[in-house]
Amino acid sequence: MDTISPVTQLHQEASAPRLQITSAKTLAESSNLTSIPSHYAFTTPTSGDQAVHADHDDSIPVIDFSLLSSSNPDQRSKAISDLAKACQDWGVFMLINHGVPESQMKGTVDALMGFFDLTEEDKNKFLGKHVLDPIIYGTSFKASVDKVLLWRDFLKMMVHPKFHCPPKPEGLSEALAEYTGELRKLARELLKGISESLGLGPGYIDEAMNMDSSLQILAANLYPPCPQPELAMGLPSHSDYGLLTILMQNDIGGLQVNHGGKWVKVDPIPNAFVVNTADQLEIMSNGKYKSVLHRAVLNNKTTRISIPFSVGPSPNTVVVPAEQLVDGKHNQATYISMNYKDYLEFKQSRVLNKGLCPSQVKI
Ligand code: OGA
Ligand code: NI
Repeated sequence: MDTISPVTQLHQEASAPRLQITSAKTLAESSNLTSIPSHYAFTTPTSGDQAVHADHDDSIPVIDFSLLSSSNPDQRSKAISDLAKACQDWGVFMLINHGVPESQMKGTVDALMGFFDLTEEDKNKFLGKHVLDPIIYGTSFKASVDKVLLWRDFLKMMVHPKFHCPPKPEGLSEALAEYTGELRKLARELLKGISESLGLGPGYIDEAMNMDSSLQILAANLYPPCPQPELAMGLPSHSDYGLLTILMQNDIGGLQVNHGGKWVKVDPIPNAFVVNTADQLEIMSNGKYKSVLHRAVLNNKTTRISIPFSVGPSPNTVVVPAEQLVDGKHNQATYISMNYKDYLEFKQSRVLNKGLCPSQVKI
């Protein structure tokens, strides 16, 4: 799998680490900002890399969660085969009728927006050093070493098996505990369907990935308006590390997925989640469901927030291709086995847009 990112100079070791790094939000709010500072500009031309809207006859699949949990066997098996097609052909789908209350979704967006409104001093208490720190606030990707900075601020929290959350703003912890509890249930049901869609028993993934102690990370990406959105980047092309990512966003577009070599815009649908396949699912399915490449672009008008919930195996699970999907002849195991925690560290140590995981763990 090759990345098609225009961002070829990103994340090389900078000769001297920047001491003072400003958040994208502070920069965007500084008065009279009409152009971006030079260290946010990508120099590689982006021509030929423009995103398109999905075709009418080949658009991002929509999965109706209520059908997946239907007691009508025909409805359910149709939903499972739609799910198989979505995972195999796209690696991304919109999830509707998922049962998570709208008020809870909105409460979570507002509470996380509130975090970014705290003072830099409050937020900087969570400046993280290591991928496995339980709470990390930062800007760009790894701001101390990124050669070109990304126009985004982020907060990442491990919310399972143990729940972590900053104490401020008031109400954040309650909102996130409730929201992530709902998503945990949703993810488990989805993985049951995905397990079946691979021809495995519904409980296969749950058991093999030790989902009782699944590592779940909730993040929030804040993309403030950028005066030159075509020159800067929100998040360059990458794949996600877990099994699945369930993403909520406000109504501002910016997410794009790679489909058949083209970048396709993911237009937000109100109250729907965007679900994408990630690296551990690619490994356990022995490449049947590829981890989809995606990126986030910017705009010059409105702040966009996206809130991805990453669902992974338990930290100590050694992820291997499912035996039933491997035989000695046509379908040999094509990935090395690796414990999930080590995989995370391995992936985080790579240059983001050159992070060819999981193909780097191919045999
Ligand atoms: C991510 C991600 C997409 C977005 O955080 O891994 O892909 O739309 N975010 O912000
Ligand atoms: Ni991602």
